[in-house]
Amino acid sequence: MTGRIIGTGSFLAKTRVTNDDLSKIMDTSDEWIYSRTGIKERPIAKEETTTYLATMAAKAALADAKVTPEELDLIIVATVTNDFVTPACACAVQAELGAMQAQAFDINAACAGFMYSLHTVYAYMQAGLAKRALIIGAETLSRIMDWTDRSTCVLFGDGAGAVVVEASETGILACDQGADGVRGKNLTCMNRTNNNPLVQTDTRLQYVKMDGQAVFKFAVSEVPGSIKKILEETNTKPEDVKYYLLHQANLRILQIVAKHLGISMDRFPTTMDHTGNISAASIPILLDEVCKKGMLNRGDKIVLSGFGGGFTWGSCLMEW
Ligand code: COA
Repeated sequence: MTGRIIGTGSFLAKTRVTNDDLSKIMDTSDEWIYSRTGIKERPIAKEETTTYLATMAAKAALADAKVTPEELDLIIVATVTNDFVTPACACAVQAELGAMQAQAFDINAACAGFMYSLHTVYAYMQAGLAKRALIIGAETLSRIMDWTDRSTCVLFGDGAGAVVVEASETGILACDQGADGVRGKNLTCMNRTNNNPLVQTDTRLQYVKMDGQAVFKFAVSEVPGSIKKILEETNTKPEDVKYYLLHQANLRILQIVAKHLGISMDRFPTTMDHTGNISAASIPILLDEVCKKGMLNRGDKIVLSGFGGGFTWGSCLMEW
């Protein structure tokens, strides 16, 4: 037994902030951002919460799958920007949906969070522990950005993507995931410093801090190997895969991965021009856009792959 995606949905924060908008509030330009990243604009939340974005994406995925909330037995939300320390975003979404038969928990694996969640659901279904699972990647990253740090804040956006996975004979064929906590110090957000009366708190630590070049090097060194591993495991040639749906961090990272695999860029659909990097939400948003454009047919093989803070990474080969 494995798991098959039977529905997708997504929901972006309503307000779009273009590179030109940013250049009015910081020393940057459309030319600098677009040429280095492929990003033109990003959705930024005003009143929307992570729970709201997650719930809207979940409702769209459930409608697409023709599954009712009561039929779900598992809800996982991948996020680093839950509205609360507790309860988990998955519990808040469960309440919003009325999915009272479902167990619910969050996974924090940053931009690889959706892949870690998919791998978890795969394991649940292989073990016969779940029949219908909802996985959501949801983020309001704009609230953990240092808006005076132009090298980082221009990259990220706010939104959510969701999939419904059903236990099935076909679907997910192989998964790989890994972590490297030693190099992970290059991308951090320490948002709960000790603030008891005995210590002083450095509030600057509450925002994302990133060594962009270290993250770039990590991504291009780990992602091709992770994808090759699942292809080799399943005797699949890179050209047998119709689309490679990768985390939308940076167009140049995708171009290097494509070159490593010997695959042309038209098999790497993108959203980053209008979404920026929405961390755990980026892969399900991309998958939803690909589905809504009618680009996938039953039996197509696709690879999903994510990478990010931790460092963490994960890849999955599936038959649609
Ligand atoms: N606008 C204009 N100039 C900027 C800028 C901005 N938004 N951000 C940084 N700069 C400047 C720097 O200050 C530096 O100026 P200097 O040469 O005078 O010191 C110059 O641009 C080059 O900076 P550098 O950091 O070397 O740029 P880069 O080519 O490495 O690109 C990233 C920076 C962040 C775009 C790139 O490293 C990257 O995409 N890394 C991966 C990050 C990522 O995807 N993270 C999430 C993964 S999940």
